[in-house]
Amino acid sequence: MTNKKIGVLVSGRGSNFQAVLDKIRNEKLPIEIAVVISDSADAYALKRAEQAGIPHTAIVRHDYRDKASFEEAIDSRLREAGVELVVLAGFMRILSADFVNRWPQAIINIHPALLPAFKGLDAQGQALKYGVKIAGCTVHFVDAGMDSGPIILQSAVPVYDEDTHDTLAARILVQEHTILPEAVKLWCEGRLEVRDRRVKIRKE
Ligand code: GRF
Repeated sequence: MTNKKIGVLVSGRGSNFQAVLDKIRNEKLPIEIAVVISDSADAYALKRAEQAGIPHTAIVRHDYRDKASFEEAIDSRLREAGVELVVLAGFMRILSADFVNRWPQAIINIHPALLPAFKGLDAQGQALKYGVKIAGCTVHFVDAGMDSGPIILQSAVPVYDEDTHDTLAARILVQEHTILPEAVKLWCEGRLEVRDRRVKIRKE
């Protein structure tokens, strides 16, 4: 079987990228991370890619005259690497409809909340402030909206009275590291079927 090629977009420490890489390597999955792209030159995720011997590059917004040419650069790099699935793993920018439409059902994102609650930035902080007793994370397809595409997997965690932003974020992160790699695997196995908003997971 030929390897499925994925591209990972990151902005920061890259622990989700690492979790995807670890699952691929530990389970010897027929998946290749063909490129890691960061929108920040000093993202720790790039160091992780370097250490793992994975092609990586920084594509920084301020080096481009506008959002369209910045996204064009990302798109070209992904296509050059032969990427079939784009994985947003802590990528802190909103991709335009134009970009998203070029990758139909081929971009997935991890969001640290149980969508559709707490879209956007600092979802964990929003959850704490709202006072929910159950928080969690979601892997979803990316559409032209913000954190609004069809949901692939979710995982819930309790919120305790003593929780701070950091303790809650850490508890959610553990779940992110499980469901993002699992969703990548399911996508690469061709087991996700999207009907309107519902994503059905075919049995093996
Ligand atoms: C994660 O919580 C992700 O859900 C959020 O940003 C964080 C990225 O963490 N959007 P990392 O870079 O994968 O460690």
